[in-house]
Amino acid sequence: MRKLILSLMLCCLCASYSFAQKSSLQKQGTATQLIVDGQPFLVLGGELGNSSAGCVQDIESIFPKLQRMGLNTVLVPAYWDLMEPTEGQFDFTLIDKVLTQARQNELKVIFLWFGAWKNSMSCYAPLWLKQDYKKYPRAYTQSGKPLEIASAFSEAVFQADNRAFAALMKHIAEADKEDGTVIMVQIENEIGMLEDARDYSREAEKEFQAAVPKEFMSYLQKNKKTLHPQMLKKWESQGFKKEGNWQTVFGADIYTDEIFMAWHYAKYVERLAQTARSIYNVPLYVNAAMNSRGRIPGQYPSAGPLAHLIDVWHCASPSIDILAPDLYDNGFVNWVAQYKLHNNPLFIPEIRLTENDGVRAFYVFGEHDAIGISPFSIENGSDSPQSALVKGYATLKEMMPLLTRYQGKGVMKGLFFDSENKERIINDDDLTITARHFFTLPWDPRAKDGSQWPEGGGILLKLAKNEYILAGSGVVLEFAKTTEKAMAEEKKALGEDGFLAKGEDAKNGKADGTPRWKGARCGLGSVDEVHVNADGSLSYIRRMNGDQDHQGRHVRIPVDDFMIIHIKLYEYK
Ligand code: DGJ
Repeated sequence: MRKLILSLMLCCLCASYSFAQKSSLQKQGTATQLIVDGQPFLVLGGELGNSSAGCVQDIESIFPKLQRMGLNTVLVPAYWDLMEPTEGQFDFTLIDKVLTQARQNELKVIFLWFGAWKNSMSCYAPLWLKQDYKKYPRAYTQSGKPLEIASAFSEAVFQADNRAFAALMKHIAEADKEDGTVIMVQIENEIGMLEDARDYSREAEKEFQAAVPKEFMSYLQKNKKTLHPQMLKKWESQGFKKEGNWQTVFGADIYTDEIFMAWHYAKYVERLAQTARSIYNVPLYVNAAMNSRGRIPGQYPSAGPLAHLIDVWHCASPSIDILAPDLYDNGFVNWVAQYKLHNNPLFIPEIRLTENDGVRAFYVFGEHDAIGISPFSIENGSDSPQSALVKGYATLKEMMPLLTRYQGKGVMKGLFFDSENKERIINDDDLTITARHFFTLPWDPRAKDGSQWPEGGGILLKLAKNEYILAGSGVVLEFAKTTEKAMAEEKKALGEDGFLAKGEDAKNGKADGTPRWKGARCGLGSVDEVHVNADGSLSYIRRMNGDQDHQGRHVRIPVDDFMIIHIKLYEYK
């Protein structure tokens, strides 16, 4: 009878909440789109610093600035310890303040559940839980040292975490069902074991000796062709065994410890995700601290939702939609490529706050059909209309109808350049498009005076044959027929006026042995700065067929500007 009443209560709860949310994920071609209020949406976000949503005054003073910066979404911690200071008593003052401030400032919200784990540690678990370490046990190192990390193997930890998380989700479902302000939820924050690659508590040891769950073994067999290369290699190293304990199947090393630990973190997260789904069914993701700078598991937070562990996380946590990278290290292009996979859309919940983030946003939307990007500690950024991030976000907001229309259709490229990576060649139809950093034109003194080059980048969108949109900052493009490029005559250095320097000679077609020109060339028919309207149509702003396109030789956007340019090419012989 009690069971029946409980199930009825659960049904009522699900019926009243689970379809109220106004955001979801949807496939379009090869892209996964975030749908918000019925429209595809790109998160032009920012994540608040850890302590910036801890009192109503801070929330009130920060949110208007975020609107001035042009964000459409703010990522905000939901702190377990402040929400449940006394066991079983919940206080949603901060959550409510976030919702009202977000609505007043036309922002969507992604809540970050700072529950059992925050950057590996359990620092946002309430004090009553931290102190009661007998009931809520810790993870242990191999030497038996207890850590300030709640054990993922403790049912008591899970129950306490889950109860608080469920209370949060119910509160959001009630407070948000009309507005749909909350568009995603992050579960925990940068989960991972530190000091050692896995937990050595008694419960963990028992599980480590047990067989690898059948569920995972059959996942590996079924998905053998598409496994992450590192997972495939690890499994292959022991001869693709179909059963056995963790060390039998994967070998005895810390990377096996990491796989084991990832399985249990992901199982724990899956239970929280199911709780969320049954209450308020918004997209869910988990974020990862990177395994960068040559570190090994335990030096970096072992077993988090890292790219090389995607198969473990997917199998154990099917209710999680996205594994999301937090990017603080060099090698941005390489990191983002690791997280845009056939089975994982790219969403960047944290990236170091710099003036280059605007350009980086262009790159990930153009190259990887990203769902969104969000510099960390965003309230410390500039809200000046001249700031690169503000200008970049404003241009991307304008581009959103076009980007969302063409996502996943294979017609967009992202461009990204710095002082090391200066050029990219794109072959499209019968064209060779050479894209470069703006400072490869030597005309700006900063290009050669030892100044740090600001990153340049953008989106190249093909609207039709011989018709493109270029949007972004700090790039220059040249278009040539591929046959024309193949004739590759020695390139002459031209001045800004387009004239040859004294002593340079135009050799082509002369009677000195240079072959005669063959085939068509392509030229810039028109280069127009345009505005993108809300329905994706273009409005003409100004023509740039003179000095601004080097009299028809290239299309460029200087490093200090963000622009949208409509390019029409033509052919001639
Ligand atoms: C990544 C974490 O997810 C954030 O909460 C914050 O601690 C930053 N690192 C600090 O750089």
